[in-house]
Amino acid sequence: MAGAKFITLEGGEGAGKSTQLRLLVAALQAKSIACVQTREPGGSPGGEEIRELLVKGEPGRWDALTEALLMFAARTDHVARTIKPALDAGKWVVCDRFTDSTYAYQGAGRGLGKERIAAMEAATLGGLKPDLTLVLDLPAEMGLKRTLSRPGSDTRFEKFDLGFHEKLRTAFLEIAKREPSRCIVVDTARDVETVAADIWRIVSSRFGIT
Ligand SMILES: Nc1ncnc2c1ncn2[C@@H]1O[C@H](COP(=O)(O)OP(=O)(O)O)[C@@H](O)[C@H]1O
Ligand SMILES: [Mg+2]
Repeated sequence: MAGAKFITLEGGEGAGKSTQLRLLVAALQAKSIACVQTREPGGSPGGEEIRELLVKGEPGRWDALTEALLMFAARTDHVARTIKPALDAGKWVVCDRFTDSTYAYQGAGRGLGKERIAAMEAATLGGLKPDLTLVLDLPAEMGLKRTLSRPGSDTRFEKFDLGFHEKLRTAFLEIAKREPSRCIVVDTARDVETVAADIWRIVSSRFGIT
């Protein structure tokens, strides 16, 4: 179990990322693994300010390219101020969304395409990739239904139409297929405890946690 690990949870709206992230962090802490729980967009004071611009308001508030650049601006600050310092200090980082979400939302959903997102990634992240990405998979319609039972005002992306959310699901599954050594797909159309047990099995065996 050498070195601090960087784990991300990905998936569409209501797939269960935030729920499973809390449970995963608790399970790691129960094994005395120091970890930082964080999220995107956000995760640093500056990143959280940029988040406000991204998650509130009407779907058409931002031109797609501007939206992608704001995502990478928030991410660059988040990596510099939160993620890198934590990993350097030996703390694991468990993050709710990361670059894969930009490939899915802005690349596929909003139609910018992989290449433009890849260029932004290369210009900003210096090759930083998660050690493990859990792609939480749920039919888009089910995910959106689940978000309705949840309080909160960060609803801008939830307001995009169903076709948009179906594109996201396809994009996340394509990423997982392209990078099978980093990404594991987890079916979240099962109860919370069953999904959490599955995730713990994946994480503990990947990193040799006993
Ligand atoms: N496996 C599950 N089965 C049923 N409801 C779930 C499950 N996982 C999460 N939920 C509920 O669905 C809603 C969305 O879950 P959440 O974790 O907030 O998703 P995300 O962070 O991916 O948008 C929440 O109200 C949550 O309590
Ligand atoms: Mg969430």
